[in-house]
Amino acid sequence: MSQNEQKRQAAVAALEFIKPGCVLGVGTGSTVNHLIDALPLVKNKIQSVVSSSVDSTKRLRSIGFEVSELAEVGRCDLYIDGADEANKHFHLIKGGGGALTREKVIAAASRKFVCIIDRAKMVGVLGAFPLPIEVIPMARSYVAREIIKYRGQPVLREGFITDNGNQIIDVHNLSITNPTEIESRISLIPGVVTVGLFSHRPADVLLIGVPEDGVRCRER
Ligand code: 5RP
Repeated sequence: MSQNEQKRQAAVAALEFIKPGCVLGVGTGSTVNHLIDALPLVKNKIQSVVSSSVDSTKRLRSIGFEVSELAEVGRCDLYIDGADEANKHFHLIKGGGGALTREKVIAAASRKFVCIIDRAKMVGVLGAFPLPIEVIPMARSYVAREIIKYRGQPVLREGFITDNGNQIIDVHNLSITNPTEIESRISLIPGVVTVGLFSHRPADVLLIGVPEDGVRCRER
């Protein structure tokens, strides 16, 4: 089965987690786009939808969903989002699509976080995928210099501005054996808005589309 079909099957499997009256947080990316396409099937169960990006908001509106602000709804019952990498502890790298800050806020404000991925995203050690860090523009050189201390290679994502008006540094060649420590340390660098490590608030459920057909479900 293709990687895209694995993503689609993981996304469809996530519909089971949407219970009547659900306040739903929706992530960003190609896997989540499959989820959005399938959401009309369970529209009657959804009380409100909160979105993690301008792109997902546009897609949700285009199929008739009203999108609420997180500040209006307070908390979400469920957050469904993809990831760039996941390990067996449910720690994630996210932000390949650049929406990491809003994604991290909604994940933190959600009772349950279901992460939908294809099998290629499961790794032993996080870091083969370049770690995205959202920074305020004036801090980008300073943050990049600090990151070199972690033996990573920081690369500015050229021509990309986040929904929050910031920039992204992608850090290559990291081997993240201690995600919670690295997440804490990078978060403390002045000028960092968000680091795309999700270990303090990991996923609760991994739905993994696999090449053989079907979806594996892992719960924390
Ligand atoms: C966006 C993200 C995405 O969840 C991540 O990049 C995975 O994307 P895709 O589903 O397209 O593989 O974190 O900021």
